[in-house]
Amino acid sequence: MVSQPIIAAFQQAGQGHVFAFYEQLSPEQQAALLADAAEIDLTEISELNRTLVQDNAAAGIDLSDLTPAPYQALPKNGGDAAAWAEAKRLGEEALRAGRVAAFVVAGGQGTRLGYDGPKGTYPVTPVRKKTLFQVFAEKIRAAGARYGRPIHWFIMTSHLNHAATEAFFREHGFFGLVADQVHFFRQGRMPAVGLDGRILLEEKHRIAMSPDGHGGSLRALQRSGAVDLMAREGIEILSYFQVDNPLVRFIDPAFVGWHLKTRSEMSSKMVPKAYAGEKVGHFCAQRGKTVVIEYSDLPSARQEETDTAGRLRFLAGSIAIHLLDRDFIRRMATGADALPFHRANKKIPCLDADGGALRPEKPNGVKFELFVFDALPFARNPVIIETDRADDFSPVKNAEGLDSPRTCAEDQTRQFARWVNARGASIPVDSTGLPPFTFEVSPLFGYDEDSFAASWAACSSPPAITAGLVLE
Ligand code: UD1
Repeated sequence: MVSQPIIAAFQQAGQGHVFAFYEQLSPEQQAALLADAAEIDLTEISELNRTLVQDNAAAGIDLSDLTPAPYQALPKNGGDAAAWAEAKRLGEEALRAGRVAAFVVAGGQGTRLGYDGPKGTYPVTPVRKKTLFQVFAEKIRAAGARYGRPIHWFIMTSHLNHAATEAFFREHGFFGLVADQVHFFRQGRMPAVGLDGRILLEEKHRIAMSPDGHGGSLRALQRSGAVDLMAREGIEILSYFQVDNPLVRFIDPAFVGWHLKTRSEMSSKMVPKAYAGEKVGHFCAQRGKTVVIEYSDLPSARQEETDTAGRLRFLAGSIAIHLLDRDFIRRMATGADALPFHRANKKIPCLDADGGALRPEKPNGVKFELFVFDALPFARNPVIIETDRADDFSPVKNAEGLDSPRTCAEDQTRQFARWVNARGASIPVDSTGLPPFTFEVSPLFGYDEDSFAASWAACSSPPAITAGLVLE
């Protein structure tokens, strides 16, 4: 075998089998395998094997001393209206000063939706069938115009969809955004290991590598130079959101204002859970820190606990909308504090010891992932604010049923109907707020209730809302 220091290092770490077929490979394939191997931190893998794999420590989540996390309730639910108004004013000032940029994590694989392609290229609006990326792009354009400052947009992809994502934006002329203000970067990768801790090969010249989770965004932002770019542009706050949710208000002045006035380094939006078992993370307090406990980690008995008024005790659901300070991102990426990895047991197609292809029917290996909300306990003064689900959250996750393209299109139509009727129109709606026909409001006409009201007022006469109409 050719002597390569990296191969020796793998052998020493008990991972020498990764190079078992090395002599059979072409020079290009050898180079590809060495490049995969070079991405792997063997010390990190051996530590993860010890802590997460060997003793099957998937249940290593600490559930002791959990209490519900406090949050700022909306004024209509008892919150302090003057404090919310002051937050909005502060946030608008920060937006006008160009201190806030948008950040979408779009490195996931969209497996549950069964859609082959970057999830952001999935069509979601009820009439025009605009894609998720187009909806976000138009919100950014409209908000930039509203505040008189273009808003930069950071987009995290993974090795699986980076090229396709960039090509999609080019094909569509960046949806009218200035290309130099849209910044793509790739998240990192982690190798999958078998249940015995051995790194898995996908092919003889390829290690089974997968994206390192949305928490990988913090180190990828730093590594890619995005944090430096923010500093050069005077951007202090990143508004983080997921690619699956077209309703998201990621340019939300009140949220930015709460973040600023509490001197928080990382802030989050919550919605009251719709029912006990809703599949969202739970904002909790634990020994003075704010933490998010995933639905899969919080025992159902705790999820169902109620308070004396009969309300769910762990009510605050995470909808994965956060604000992150630039300096906090840098500190998390380069300092001593590090996000913990989570273990996920998966069915991972791989090679057996003889190089034969295995297509497992039950989980045969482990993937390691970082979650961005694990940064909350490291942040100074994290603040959680309440938001209306109808204004911020209707993700497309499943092909059918809950959180599907159909429910999402209906939620968009309900929102448009609500905005229109609040301006004095009288389109009929059912008991869930859904009109009997579809129509659409372009984000360029209104991306939130305020911007919608401004455009509506600027119309010479109120538009007649009819089936299939698109207000733009
Ligand atoms: C997530 C949250 C959950 C929250 C819910 C709200 C986790 C573990 N859970 O659940 O707390 O209540 O959303 O909708 O996140 N992504 C990457 N790179 C990766 C993995 C994911 O960029 O390596 C991105 C995806 O593209 C997507 C987002 O992260 O935008 C969420 O990923 P997903 O795995 O779909 O999270 P959920 O399980 O739906």
